[in-house]
Amino acid sequence: MTRNVVDIVVDSPEAMRDMGRRLAALLRAGDLVMLSGELGAGKTTLTRGLGEGLGVRGAVTSPTFVIARVHPSLGDGPPLVHVDAYRLGGGLDEMEDLDLDVSLPESVIVVEWGEGKVEELTDDRLHLRIHRAVGDTSDEVRHVRVTGLGQRWAGADLGALSA
Ligand SMILES: Nc1ncnc2c1ncn2[C@@H]1O[C@H](COP(=O)(O)OP(=O)(O)OP(=O)(O)O)[C@@H](O)[C@H]1O
Ligand SMILES: [Mg+2]
Repeated sequence: MTRNVVDIVVDSPEAMRDMGRRLAALLRAGDLVMLSGELGAGKTTLTRGLGEGLGVRGAVTSPTFVIARVHPSLGDGPPLVHVDAYRLGGGLDEMEDLDLDVSLPESVIVVEWGEGKVEELTDDRLHLRIHRAVGDTSDEVRHVRVTGLGQRWAGADLGALSA
């Protein structure tokens, strides 16, 4: 499968949010974004910026009980579906109730903790892996590896995500 990979250093929560805003400019309805990284890596912070960039209604938060939240567009863009799959077990079966396959064509879907759970939705995925590297001088530094999978992302300018 075609891969398009870019590495980005993000040195603060504000910078992560800004990257989310820039990510919005690359996305359109039908896109699936997977976010990985340990607890507190910055997945929701990035999604908050993405919601701002897409111009959707409602603040993106870390939901305590809700697994998926739909943020409708305030304009004529696609809604943002924000999924936090942390509490879900494995397999797309367990996600079936969310009907992500139904909403994907007209939405941008972002999934935290989605590995092994949502890949069956589409072969075209943008995967962002957020790491804290050992030895960084500031504990706010994050290293983000962005991988675009499939034809959709083959020629995309992922470098546009860096500041
Ligand atoms: N460079 C950075 N990027 C993002 N967040 C950062 C950064 N540096 C520090 N932080 C802090 O780390 C925390 C990230 O929290 P956030 O909820 O975004 O993480 P998460 O990956 O969604 O975690 P969870 O797996 O619990 O959902 C925030 O408190 C944020 O202020
Ligand atoms: Mg989160």
